[in-house]
Amino acid sequence: DAAEKGGYEHFMLKEIHEQPKGLEDTLNKRLKDGNIINLDGINMTKKDIEGFNKVYIVACGTAYHAGLVGKAAIEKMARIPVEVDVASEFRYRDPFVDESTLFIAISQSGETLDTLAALREAKSKGARILSVVNVVGSSVARESDDVFYTWAGPEISVASTKAYTTQLMCMYLLALYMGKEKGTIDGTYYAKVIEELKTIPEKLQHILDKEGDIEKLADIFYKREQVFFIGRGPDSGVAYEGSLKLKEISYINSFAIAAGELKHGTIALIEDDTLVIALATQDALFEKMVSNVEEIKARGARVIAIAKEGNTEIEKKADIVIYIPQCMDELTPLLSVVPLQLFAYFVAKNRGCNIDKPKNLAKSVTVE
Ligand code: G6P
Repeated sequence: DAAEKGGYEHFMLKEIHEQPKGLEDTLNKRLKDGNIINLDGINMTKKDIEGFNKVYIVACGTAYHAGLVGKAAIEKMARIPVEVDVASEFRYRDPFVDESTLFIAISQSGETLDTLAALREAKSKGARILSVVNVVGSSVARESDDVFYTWAGPEISVASTKAYTTQLMCMYLLALYMGKEKGTIDGTYYAKVIEELKTIPEKLQHILDKEGDIEKLADIFYKREQVFFIGRGPDSGVAYEGSLKLKEISYINSFAIAAGELKHGTIALIEDDTLVIALATQDALFEKMVSNVEEIKARGARVIAIAKEGNTEIEKKADIVIYIPQCMDELTPLLSVVPLQLFAYFVAKNRGCNIDKPKNLAKSVTVE
């Protein structure tokens, strides 16, 4: 067991540290001649892409959160409307699916029963089925028309980390490919995103090298019984994932919400010393997040902000700022989730929780 953990105390920490490699592998499998995306084995011609009038992304848990970020990427780059749904909801509401629908199932294990059933439902209505899967030859992979594999390697910890970031990488590559074929993005933008994607493993490693800073924060806040996560745009998807990580392994009552929606109810719960983790990595939405932080500070919240290096303005508002390396707004989820994974890990460790096997949870849910 200890040998399998490669010197790490838990599989979760090992897997967090395997993310630079997983991302590099997932990217390299799909790049040829430097910056051409190669979708070999995936049947998706320009004509197919132009024929899709809608995309459904369906998944559960962490994979669903990868879908939220995937939606933003596909809508921005390929200009196709995308709906993201949890598999257990999609199945029971006679969704608008036909031959012009691209159905994307995201699943680490490829064995989640609800995701598999949703896939079968979409298939019976004529959709094209593409899955983003980690386990080669799994049920979801076998029943799909095409598979875009994540190259995360085996994920043992129940709380998913490297599967999530590699799922994001697949979604970015897919969105970029579709946008390029459709002509909704130009060559300069395409090349810029590819070059940035190549820098992500190193930037992620940079965050891991400073994990001691996050450990110190966990030492301060681990006794909390309630934590809120807020963000806008792609950051809201990451807020959901950060919140899920924390509740899964530390049993803290954590809650995530799109920051602009706070004032419609949740802000009623913010009082003196309430801990809020505010993701403010989007240059385009930075000022809006700064005012959200002001609003909650005015009610006494303790705020930890996540921002890009150089955006120091937030230091005047938040109590603590964690910086991630500079990168395009679209791609920050690949980096901003990492401090949240580490925070959840060190908080759970301080609380003495069973990190790799949290109570009541399974790695793969194969029942309804
Ligand atoms: C379970 C796991 C989660 C995972 C979800 C979906 O709830 O505990 O970590 O995100 O299932 O699993 P999948 O294998 O379909 O990605």
